[in-house]
Amino acid sequence: MQPPSPTEVESKILPAYLREYHELADGLGSFAAVEKETGQLAGRVSLRPANSYGLTGGTELGYRLYPAFWGRGLATEGARALIASAFERLHLDRVVATTMADNVGSWRVLEKCGLRRVSTFYYPDADRMPGAEHGDFVYELTRRDWTRQVKHEPAAPASAS
Ligand SMILES: CC(C)(COP(=O)(O)OP(=O)(O)OC[C@H]1O[C@@H](n2cnc3c(N)ncnc32)[C@H](O)[C@@H]1OP(=O)(O)O)[C@@H](O)C(=O)NCCC(=O)NCCS
Repeated sequence: MQPPSPTEVESKILPAYLREYHELADGLGSFAAVEKETGQLAGRVSLRPANSYGLTGGTELGYRLYPAFWGRGLATEGARALIASAFERLHLDRVVATTMADNVGSWRVLEKCGLRRVSTFYYPDADRMPGAEHGDFVYELTRRDWTRQVKHEPAAPASAS
């Protein structure tokens, strides 16, 4: 699978991100993940109305960090912050996410944040990316489960905002 071209980034992808600032409610959208100690951009985390293939309703959690920042608990810290905001500030009912079955680091983040795996699906064109043939997992966390099980768990410390 090829990365998008600079033209596609400029004409489609970036405008779509910028539109979110106007179209989505305050507290939803993409957020910069910034390393506290250095102020360096580590990547982004997101919370938006679900629109990924395999999801039906809910508000979708996402994260993408630069490789230099992997393996330090930063995605988990960012995801936990957005989940707390989703339920405590935005009063949402359900946070959902999808991740490739092969992307162990990604679904470990979701499980550490208390999301529960609810199904596996397969893209019709599963040969488009290596590992896609193993399927994608759907995860969710309801407000009820978060309030009961996750909210009061102590979070492990990490080093980014
Ligand atoms: C997936 C991603 C966000 C994880 O970020 P991260 O900051 O490294 O994640 P964390 O350190 O918070 O937690 C990762 C967990 O997965 C585990 N993990 C990571 N890679 C693993 C692997 N190959 N096998 C088993 N466990 C793995 C880590 O050990 C950790 O669990 P632990 O704390 O119980 O040890 C990051 O790798 C990334 O941005 N990848 C590229 C984009 C992407 O895949 N985004 C998700 C799309 S669905």
